[in-house]
Amino acid sequence: MGEEMGDAMDEKLLTVDDFEEAARHLLPRATYSYIRAGADEERALRANREAFSAYELWYRVLVDVASPSTATTVLGRHVSLPILISPAGYQRLAHADGEIATARGAARAATIFTLSTVSTVSLEDVAAASDGAKWFQLYVYKDRGLTQWLVERAERAGYEALVLTVDLPVVGRRLADERHGFHLPPGMTIANLEGRAAMPEDFEGSLLTAYFSAHLDPSVTWKDVAWLRSITHLPVILKGIVRPDDASRAVDEGVEAIVVSNHGGRQLDTAPASIHALAEVAEAVDGRCELLMDGGICCGNDVLTALALGARAVMVGRAVLWGLAVGGEEGVIAVLDLLAGELRRAMVLAGCPDVASASRDLVRRRSS
Ligand code: GLV
Repeated sequence: MGEEMGDAMDEKLLTVDDFEEAARHLLPRATYSYIRAGADEERALRANREAFSAYELWYRVLVDVASPSTATTVLGRHVSLPILISPAGYQRLAHADGEIATARGAARAATIFTLSTVSTVSLEDVAAASDGAKWFQLYVYKDRGLTQWLVERAERAGYEALVLTVDLPVVGRRLADERHGFHLPPGMTIANLEGRAAMPEDFEGSLLTAYFSAHLDPSVTWKDVAWLRSITHLPVILKGIVRPDDASRAVDEGVEAIVVSNHGGRQLDTAPASIHALAEVAEAVDGRCELLMDGGICCGNDVLTALALGARAVMVGRAVLWGLAVGGEEGVIAVLDLLAGELRRAMVLAGCPDVASASRDLVRRRSS
């Protein structure tokens, strides 16, 4: 356990919010703000979290919950808990070990790590450092050759699925990044694209916005989803859907899973909260593909609510990054352990000995 983690643990980090507070003290302001921020007025960011209060869990009693199990499968892969790691870029900003620490933490917790296209460690180096289950998040570059090259490398390196982000035709406006002039310090790069998709030299405001508008393609459509499926044997997961009709279309296009998500409130600021969107999407999809969700999960009760509303598993981004910032790999494990413990307690109190018993009847929208 690192020294930082030792100090932080002395402070008794009992909740994900405690980890955020500890990370806020450790991180440079620009990095903390980059991770924390939502778009514009941060309505979607707040809504993601607040929306969980709209649901009640109608717990069962007199069920044997002496040995609760959080284990499940996602796309056939066994995971010890229904909490996977969302893709998040630039993790060496949060901790020197960056994506390697997060991938190793996820592997030790027996869950799935998703590597962002814009990682600060290359997909090959992450694969060499961690033999746990890994997915690769993909953005579609204007240069489709570059996109295909990323896909081929992810396949070769043993990534088990491609997570295509579909909610980012352009980057939402993150005011803090503009104010701080978000950039990568010398020595840190978008490691997967080194020498292939150059960093813009002259830009104002956020490097992220400048880089994405230089290289990502806002004209991507369903045709590109079909193209992606045609060039890979990996399962394709679409991340960033909130509408039931888009979800049904995704199923018709043959995608293996959907991540119901508004990109952590970082894109369209008037987007619906992810958990509300999940409820509607689950009804439309009706079991035809696996559903995941992310956005606003901050405790085990939230995870159980999402499972009851139809998620196979949830994904967490910021929560794990706070752990990463506080203690590298040990911090990632600590946050996952914390969430797993909270989920187990929620399951026990709700009369759910396993995740399959988190059925739709467990959850209702509050009437007042
Ligand atoms: C990138 O995907 C971000 O949300 O910062």
